[in-house]
Amino acid sequence: MRIMLLGAPGAGKGTQASFIRDHYGIPQISTGDMLRAAVQAGSALGMAARKVMESGGLVSDDIILGLVQARIVEADCQRGFLFDGFPRTLPQADALKQAQIYLDVVIDIQVPDEDIIERLSGRRIHQPSGRVYHVRHSPPRVSDRDDITGESLVQRDDDREAIIRNRLDVYHAQTRPLVAYYEAWSRSGETGAPRLIQVDGTQSVDAVRQQLQQVLG
Ligand code: AP5
Ligand code: MG
Repeated sequence: MRIMLLGAPGAGKGTQASFIRDHYGIPQISTGDMLRAAVQAGSALGMAARKVMESGGLVSDDIILGLVQARIVEADCQRGFLFDGFPRTLPQADALKQAQIYLDVVIDIQVPDEDIIERLSGRRIHQPSGRVYHVRHSPPRVSDRDDITGESLVQRDDDREAIIRNRLDVYHAQTRPLVAYYEAWSRSGETGAPRLIQVDGTQSVDAVRQQLQQVLG
């Protein structure tokens, strides 16, 4: 099964990814998590990506495509994978299509901009695993500690209000058009056409998970 999660920053892609990943036994491929790991490691890629990410812009398509192409040939991707935050530009989506890397399902998690600032400013993450919390909506059992490892949680550098607004602008300009792209492809019935599923992301984490369970079967 090849699934892709589409949605604005803070729509809940990472949160729902853990359920889908466990349900299908497929790896989650989050380009954002991969880039943050590279920044943390201080690699050449991380150095190149850092400034762009801190400003809320998008890393170049070439870098992202190189990262993903290297990742999906690994052994754990044989039964499929879950893309989280990729593709997020039309050239990235076209590159996948041209490489005949077809998706079975594209899930668009819909959340209006006005909910996003509150979600992202209260977010805390466990950097090594990518586990996601929210100080009010999904608090950890012990304040500021990961439920599984007990390690510290951190706030992402790009979760500051001015940056969040920029990320939303970038989303509307460059990523939102992918919904129409996949809608048109899905309707066409052409080779490789995915199923496009739209879910209401404004409900609770459990309610969104239940919607996904229903539509994915
Ligand atoms: P990335 O890490 O992908 O960030 P993003 O797309 O901005 O999305 P987020 O991770 O912020 O949100 P999410 O939808 O995963 O929400 P979450 O589940 O955490 O990318 C970061 C940067 O890397 C980009 O800005 C770019 O620079 C670069 N990059 C990455 N991929 C790229 C690509 N393909 N091309 C170019 N550049 C790329 O939830 C958010 C919060 O809300 C959490 O606190 C959570 O607990 C809470 N929450 C979740 N669901 C609910 C709910 N139903 N109700 C209430 N609260 C909820
Ligand atoms: Mg995420």
